[in-house]
Amino acid sequence: MFNAWFRRHSAVLALRAVPFHSNPVSRNARRRSTRIAAFTFAAFFVVTAGARAQSQDAQIQYDDATGVFRIDAADTTYAIGINEAKQVQTLYWGKRLATSDHLAAAHAERGASSFDPPLDTTPHEYVGWGGPLYVEPDLKITFPDGNRDLVLQYVSHRIDGNELFIRMKDVSSEVYVTLDYQADAETGILRRSAEIEDRTDAPVTIEQVFSATWNLPRGTDYRLRYLTGRWAAEWNVQEQPIHPGKTVLESRRGSTGAQNNPWFAIDHVSSNDPEHGSVWFGALAWSGSWEITVEQDQVQQVRVSGGPNSFDFAYKLEKGQTFRTPYFYGGYSSEGIGGASRLMHRLEIDSILPRAPHPPLRPVLYNSWEATEFNVNEAGQMALAEKAASIGVERFVMDDGWFGERNNDHAGLGDWKVNPQKFPHGLQPLIDKVHGLGMSFGLWVEPEMVNPNSNLYRQHPDWALNFAGRPRTEERNQLVLNLARADVRDYVFHALDKLLSENAIDFLKWDYNRNWSEPGWPQRAPEEEKEVYVDFVRNVYGIMAQLRAKYPRLEIESCSGGGSRVDLGVMHLTDEVWPSDNTDAFDRLLIQNGFTYAYTPGVMMAWVTDSPTWVNHRTLSLEYRFLSSMQGSLGIGANLNNWTPEDFATAKKMVAQYKTIRETVQRGSLYRLIEPGNGSEQSVTQYVSRDGAQTVVFAFLHSSRERYPFPRIYLRGLDPAAIYRVAELDGQVTKDTPAEASGAWWMQHGIDVNLQGDFQAAAFELRRGEK
Ligand code: DGJ
Repeated sequence: MFNAWFRRHSAVLALRAVPFHSNPVSRNARRRSTRIAAFTFAAFFVVTAGARAQSQDAQIQYDDATGVFRIDAADTTYAIGINEAKQVQTLYWGKRLATSDHLAAAHAERGASSFDPPLDTTPHEYVGWGGPLYVEPDLKITFPDGNRDLVLQYVSHRIDGNELFIRMKDVSSEVYVTLDYQADAETGILRRSAEIEDRTDAPVTIEQVFSATWNLPRGTDYRLRYLTGRWAAEWNVQEQPIHPGKTVLESRRGSTGAQNNPWFAIDHVSSNDPEHGSVWFGALAWSGSWEITVEQDQVQQVRVSGGPNSFDFAYKLEKGQTFRTPYFYGGYSSEGIGGASRLMHRLEIDSILPRAPHPPLRPVLYNSWEATEFNVNEAGQMALAEKAASIGVERFVMDDGWFGERNNDHAGLGDWKVNPQKFPHGLQPLIDKVHGLGMSFGLWVEPEMVNPNSNLYRQHPDWALNFAGRPRTEERNQLVLNLARADVRDYVFHALDKLLSENAIDFLKWDYNRNWSEPGWPQRAPEEEKEVYVDFVRNVYGIMAQLRAKYPRLEIESCSGGGSRVDLGVMHLTDEVWPSDNTDAFDRLLIQNGFTYAYTPGVMMAWVTDSPTWVNHRTLSLEYRFLSSMQGSLGIGANLNNWTPEDFATAKKMVAQYKTIRETVQRGSLYRLIEPGNGSEQSVTQYVSRDGAQTVVFAFLHSSRERYPFPRIYLRGLDPAAIYRVAELDGQVTKDTPAEASGAWWMQHGIDVNLQGDFQAAAFELRRGEK
């Protein structure tokens, strides 16, 4: 497990989260303007660079005779060879091979013609732009004399437990690249990154720097899946055959974005079973502008490369400095796209989340946003808190509107002081009330933003991202603060630190409601301005990590006007994410389904809100809304002031039910039995607890047609020989359903539910009997 290594070597748990360590230290030391005034992030970045422990978890072997590295972990084998041209070449990525299997030495491709030189057609692990290279390079550098040729060759390697380091060097300059591979024993997922080091006598400018390239077995029968979306319509799963040419998935927005998510999965076009067949998948741990290119070259080699977006990118390295890329995780599943998702979920829970491998279960949460919007005050929030507590809510979150002159979205961002008209005695009376009701207290913040109508902006108009003398585009009446600046970073840290030190806040909902525009940094030399893309993200991570270190019990939700900042990078530092502002429980079926392709339901916050919904004006029963939300981390966002006694009774019952299944939902194995979308009239999900003792099934019917019954549900992931007892949570299974039967029965005979009409839902659980 990745986190085991970090835990052993990191004095402060949160420190392990940040993928960059050495570079920011040297950069901060070099420039006075970026020096940190009141506290330092330097220690934060240094700690993880210490010695590494041996781990027996996954095996990495090197064969001296053939120059082949072989990484075996879980069900996966990954093999790399050094060829005669000293290039580091992919040999194999796929299902685990037998220990006795022998991998032959790597040989560079011969080159099909003078137009297809060997350098171009060889499947490189990491390749510089130099020589005759026409495929996507991992690294492109300009030297001060104008030379842009970079040809990397193997120099040495080191194996340290389950981590492999391969060092490469340019053929004629002192530019080094160290590739870092770490294998996760439980999932077989590899974590890769690269460190670029300038040991020349002069600065070099990095113009493109990826984390890794993944080469698939050569072939033409591939299909790419990826995630697209927009505000309130995130997480659409796209599929397309991979043809010769290149597909670019990316964000140029400064942050992750909903339009594409930094995740991919590739399987064979011919495989139609979501639970069988080979799938190669991966995800970037980076919350800034990012890029993943999927390229099938002229010799039918499919390569996937990714890292920070190379558009508008430049990063200057002084002599002796290093640049560490974000992690790019990649895995293989022989159990179809369903298996690939489950491996990702397992990785996130056991290795990525801040408190992995045992992140606390998500509490049932109430959030005030849809009830009150900006109209928050002490009495109103206290009244909502009492009502929330009465139905079993465990965390009360006050959303936007509590600070500065924040009466609407035109003012206040940046002024993180409690509004005295709304909270004359500060926040503590409300917090005490919430705590007294047995709930933890959460607060909404949007620390990276500023409204021009704010004291902060009036004092520091230069703190926003801007190009000098140019218009500044506002979105939602706000600008993006330049968090890359040390003074801005310090301000944001101190504002949050003050809030947390003066108030017993347990949870921050960390929002981010626009993308970048005019990403200038006029205080920097022109050739260094583009470093904003990297330094901004590093500082956001740094602030989160520093807060977590100082307030170890603090939890954070990553929200970006919905699901615009969900990735493995921010997930290292946050405990849950908000997938979408679209809280229509029917729309959510599709949104949540797409989300789970890459991310675990264990972090997927899902609120029950009012009906008809503001989104589609669709009317849905309270039970349906609960069951939709209970497929992830249950929250409630309805206006409880409008609920009837019956609503409270229903909610109380369903919250109690959720608590009996939440461990299975949040930590178990997910099977998407019937997916919504593509014209499907139904949606069915199944969750199996880690110990296999509990299975929960949620079934949704959009609309009955022509008297057809609901399709029979065939369960998965059960022990065929064990006996399971069925119990309804909500809705009905048919009267012919046996009270108990074998796992084989539930998987092969299947189970029928009584669902008819429009927007109907049911849920049941199976419990395994004692053997
Ligand atoms: C966008 C978030 O996604 C909402 O849940 C809410 O917090 C608003 N921002 C508040 O401005």
